[in-house]
Amino acid sequence: MARKFFVGGNWKCNGTAEEVKKIVNTLNEAQVPSQDVVEVVVSPPYVFLPLVKSTLRSDFFVAAQNCWVKKGGAYTGEVSAEMLVNLDIPWVILGHSERRAILNESNEFVGDKVAYALAQGLKVIACVGETLEEREAGSTMDVVAAQTKAIAERVSNWSNVVIAYEPVWAIGTGKVASPAQAQEVHDELRKWLAKNVSADVAATTRIIYGGSVNGGNCKELGGQADVDGFLVGGASLKPEFIDIIKAAEVKKSA
Ligand code: PGA
Repeated sequence: MARKFFVGGNWKCNGTAEEVKKIVNTLNEAQVPSQDVVEVVVSPPYVFLPLVKSTLRSDFFVAAQNCWVKKGGAYTGEVSAEMLVNLDIPWVILGHSERRAILNESNEFVGDKVAYALAQGLKVIACVGETLEEREAGSTMDVVAAQTKAIAERVSNWSNVVIAYEPVWAIGTGKVASPAQAQEVHDELRKWLAKNVSADVAATTRIIYGGSVNGGNCKELGGQADVDGFLVGGASLKPEFIDIIKAAEVKKSA
C-alpha cells in the first residue's frame, strides 16, 4: 500500500485571532494537490482550535499540539484526549522535542500519551529526534530507536500513527538536514520498525521529516524514498506552506 504524503503545520505558541484568520484564508484559497495525493493537517494552539476547525476548508484537518496522558480530572492547565475527541479534533502532535526538552517529557511519558490518545480514537503525529550533541556522539539511531521503542511497547495498532523525525538541531535553526541525512534516518527507522514491530507496519507507516523545512528545500527532501512528508514549524505560518504542500507532487512522478 502506498503511503500518502503528509504535510503538517505546527504553529506552536504563535498567533492572534486575527493572524490565525489570515492564515486560514490563505490556506482556503490555495490550489493544492487533491486529497488522494496529500493529507494536510494544521496545528494551531488549543485556544484557536475551534476557530480554525470551523473556518478551515474541509479537505484540510486540524491537530492539537499536545494532550494529557490519561483521562481528564484534577489536572489544572491540561487538555484531555477526550475533550479533543468531543470537539471532533482528529489529530494530536505528541512528543515534540520542545516538550521533551523544556517540559521534561520522558520517552515513557510520551509513549503513555501516544497509547492513551490512540485508545480514545485520536490520530497521532509522534515526534522523535536527536540533539546535535547526540548526533556528534554517533548515537542518533540509538536515541531515535529508544524514543520509538517506548511507543512500540505501548501501541499495537499503528494505522493511526505518523512518525515525525525531527532532529533537534534542525528545528527553528534554519539548519535543515540534508536530504541524505534525512533519508538515512528514515530508512533506519523503517528497518527498526520491520525488525521490532512488523514488516507491514514498516511498509505502511508514514515517516515525515521536520526541522527547517521551507519552500526551497521541500522538493528535494520529499523526493527521498523514505520521506513521506513533513512537519513544518516556522514556514507553516507563511504562504510558502502552500509550496510545501505542493511538494507532494514529487512522489506522483517518482
Ligand atoms: P521548524 O519547526 O520548521 O520551525 O524548524 C519544525 C517543528 O518543530 O515541528
